[in-house]
Amino acid sequence: MCGIVGYTGKQQAAPILLDGLSKLEYRGYDSAGVAVRNSSGKHEVVKTNGRLGVLSDMLDGGKALKGVCGIGHTRWATHGMPSEANAHPHFNDDRSVVAVHNGIIENYGALKDKLTSKGYTFYSETDTEIATKLVDYYYKKWNDPIEAMVSFSLRVRGSYAMAVMFEDYPEEIFIARKDSPLIVGITGDETFLASDVPAILKYTRNIYYVDNMEIARLEKGKATFYNVDKKVITKKSVKIDWDVEAAEKGGYAHFMLKEMHEQPEVVANTLNAFIKNGKINLSEGGLTDEHLKSIGNIQIAACGSAYHVGVAAKYVIEDLARVPVNVDVASEFRYRNPIFGSNDLLIVISQSGETADTLAALREAKGRGVKTLAVVNVLGSSIAREADAALYTKAGPEISVATTKAYSAQLIVAYLVAVQLAFVRGTIDGERYKNLIAQLQTIPAEIKKLLDCDEKLKWFATKISNKKDVFFIGRGIDYAICLEGSLKLKEISYIHSEAYAAGELKHGTISLIEDDTLVIGVVTQMQLAEKSVSNLIEVEARGAYIMSVTVNGNYAIEKQSKLTLYIPNIDPCFTASLAVIPLQLLSYYVGVARGLDVDKPRNLAKCVAVE
Ligand code: BG6
Repeated sequence: MCGIVGYTGKQQAAPILLDGLSKLEYRGYDSAGVAVRNSSGKHEVVKTNGRLGVLSDMLDGGKALKGVCGIGHTRWATHGMPSEANAHPHFNDDRSVVAVHNGIIENYGALKDKLTSKGYTFYSETDTEIATKLVDYYYKKWNDPIEAMVSFSLRVRGSYAMAVMFEDYPEEIFIARKDSPLIVGITGDETFLASDVPAILKYTRNIYYVDNMEIARLEKGKATFYNVDKKVITKKSVKIDWDVEAAEKGGYAHFMLKEMHEQPEVVANTLNAFIKNGKINLSEGGLTDEHLKSIGNIQIAACGSAYHVGVAAKYVIEDLARVPVNVDVASEFRYRNPIFGSNDLLIVISQSGETADTLAALREAKGRGVKTLAVVNVLGSSIAREADAALYTKAGPEISVATTKAYSAQLIVAYLVAVQLAFVRGTIDGERYKNLIAQLQTIPAEIKKLLDCDEKLKWFATKISNKKDVFFIGRGIDYAICLEGSLKLKEISYIHSEAYAAGELKHGTISLIEDDTLVIGVVTQMQLAEKSVSNLIEVEARGAYIMSVTVNGNYAIEKQSKLTLYIPNIDPCFTASLAVIPLQLLSYYVGVARGLDVDKPRNLAKCVAVE
């Protein structure tokens, strides 16, 4: 998944495709390709496992590929390593059908079996090649491109923005969309398509947002939209008045805000990648139920926010599966001569898959013959390649240096491992297993609701933006949430803050609490709530300025708090996914209130691939 561009009109297509794809480079990608219908009516496909510049050089800036209709793609690998074979466009055997795709086809395995039984063979590891051949299959069946796109839309499960060229339909492009953005722009007798506004903003500001389960036939200067009943639908165009920079952020002021708002979709995609027919299946990542049963102790090593996921994971795994978990920052783990039992598992968590300390921790364990599992966001990254097994978060490219959506996706994978581990080892019964899975599936919608009620946080952020010291306190998983909330505030606003186990505050650090010190209490673990509330009352008695994050119905701390934010009730194991949202928003709004570069905080890098 990543960037899509298409064009049909009077100009040569290839330069327009390359230009459009270059406007999508900011999204991150690992390979690229274009397909153009040449003067003899054949589709020429050129791809590279590398940067767009390589592709442009191969095509002499596009001049080497003649034709006025084409599609292009920059790939951010989700299925299958970054490689030329896996790069898009994908095609059927005679290249009469060529396609590019953004999204994740969840039932690609079943579809591949179906197509194989019909005689199809496959040259790549991608879900997109399967999707393309499914379109080809239906086109051969119905001999009608719209019918083929409708059948495709009804048959696949998952998310897709699909653009297809059929040799029998010169200078036309057919598109279909579900959950993965796709837009159409028309100016004069030229028609453009793209996955994101920046790609075509230079040519037109009048665009059509393709809605879910819509299909379109794009001709020069004309687009005909259909629903899955093949009825023509009329759509209103939208005038885009963003500048290019705003367009890259999808209209949000910063990538961080955009990525926070992508969390519902990212969490849903990550859940759907591993929950099939009501059961958790981690075997594709190499973590079979047999293996889960045999695990002795678990060790977790990671850095930054990924480490905070490990802290939360410790509480959840030990609570549900009764498996001992030790979690450590990777930079400590790698040098402390760690002790492993014979069936121990090391889990490393990393968005980039390139963090030097985390990679070193992985190698340290592998060097001792310890089984390793990576929870990672980037396919083909060093950590993904070197771990014995890898579970991929489906966060997509994360641009903002401070992670939000990748953190949330990592939490989801941690929960899935914990629940499946508990179930296969019999520490939870079938009823609780089903219930926990059902609760996990409420998280995307709950996150969306929390993201939408940020007015109070905007107000509170301006009130606290000049604070010098902030303390986040909580117990159990609430402490893990405090760690992430505190790091977000530090990273984004440069305000000094500390996360403290609430019960530990009285052993020294409470001496720092004075009039107007901001203390943010996280109280979602109701079995510990009374004690956490007492700790907040203790600091309030010493002049602290309190903000609380707690669950609906727990009003015990509202009186003492300048702001109390409530999250919906959910199994206490999963509250980190919800409680972190107001803390992310608060950090973001404080950073904005302080006029800071929220997406690129000083001194920080998105990935620290060196020690
Ligand atoms: C830091 C990032 O540099 O590295 C954090 O700013 C991140 O957001 C941490 O959590 C670990 O990075 P990764 O890629 O291993 O998750």
